Amino acid sequence: MLLLCALLALALKPSDAVTVDYFDYSALFYQTRRPTGEYLFDYNGNELFHVDLDSKSVVWTLPGLSEHESFDPQGALQDINVARYNLDIGIKRSNSTAATNIPPLVNLYSSKPVVLGEPNILICFVKNIFPPVMNTTWIKNGEKIEEGFTETSYLPAQDHSFRKLHYLAFIPNEHDIYTCEIEHWGLERPTRRVWQHDVPTPTSEAYQNVICALGLAVGIIGIIAGVMLIIKGMKQSAAQGRSQR
Ligand SMILES: *[C@@H]1O[C@H](CO)[C@@H](O)[C@H](O)[C@H]1NC(C)=O
Ligand SMILES: *[C@@H]1O[C@H](CO)[C@@H](O)[C@H](O)[C@H]1NC(C)=O
Repeated sequence: MLLLCALLALALKPSDAVTVDYFDYSALFYQTRRPTGEYLFDYNGNELFHVDLDSKSVVWTLPGLSEHESFDPQGALQDINVARYNLDIGIKRSNSTAATNIPPLVNLYSSKPVVLGEPNILICFVKNIFPPVMNTTWIKNGEKIEEGFTETSYLPAQDHSFRKLHYLAFIPNEHDIYTCEIEHWGLERPTRRVWQHDVPTPTSEAYQNVICALGLAVGIIGIIAGVMLIIKGMKQSAAQGRSQR
């Protein structure tokens, strides 16, 4: 598999803000596979915007941001061209050595506590992604889902891997089973994560019944033993009374 991945600029610079907990990131990459490249700005882990390299336009992630900010996509396209040029040189210098594939880590969870019948969002969170080439499939009850989901760009991490979040709107019920499937060259077979509503399992119910029955039995034995002791005690005192006469 011929893939050479160049991460040319993963610039990390503290923002002007007073606190040092917040960072501005800008990420740029170009590679020989799709997506061929990415140019994005990130603030404190949230994507602000990226440049769509096919339509050559700026895509603002948070609605409303574009009313206050502007960005000229031409600058991004120039940087991407430089990256493409450098990648060609890098491929030749390395005799077309492929990038090393790292297995990504996948987590699936709901965005808020589940209440049956109330709209919710499933989040399939993938981290440790390298190279940023991946297929994600949502599956509901064994059938591939074709719509109703969104995803972020490949978000840069400080170790030069990427994170990506996938969102699926759903209405939880007792029966539906959702699966997020990730294909990546670092994985021998696709990784699947399954979400379904937690119902008390029959075994745990049976176990509770056994505990309840045991408790009841112990209680009844205790009562019987107590009654027998009382009767024995009454007999003894009656016998003592007779012998005293
Ligand atoms: C690439 O291949 C050439 C010719 O086979 C060799 O001389 C050179 O050392 C190789 N370079 C690398 C980085 O492997
Ligand atoms: C993604 O799916 C396409 C089409 O099935 C396949 O050719 C490609 O190898 C897959 N990519 C990965 C990273 O598994």
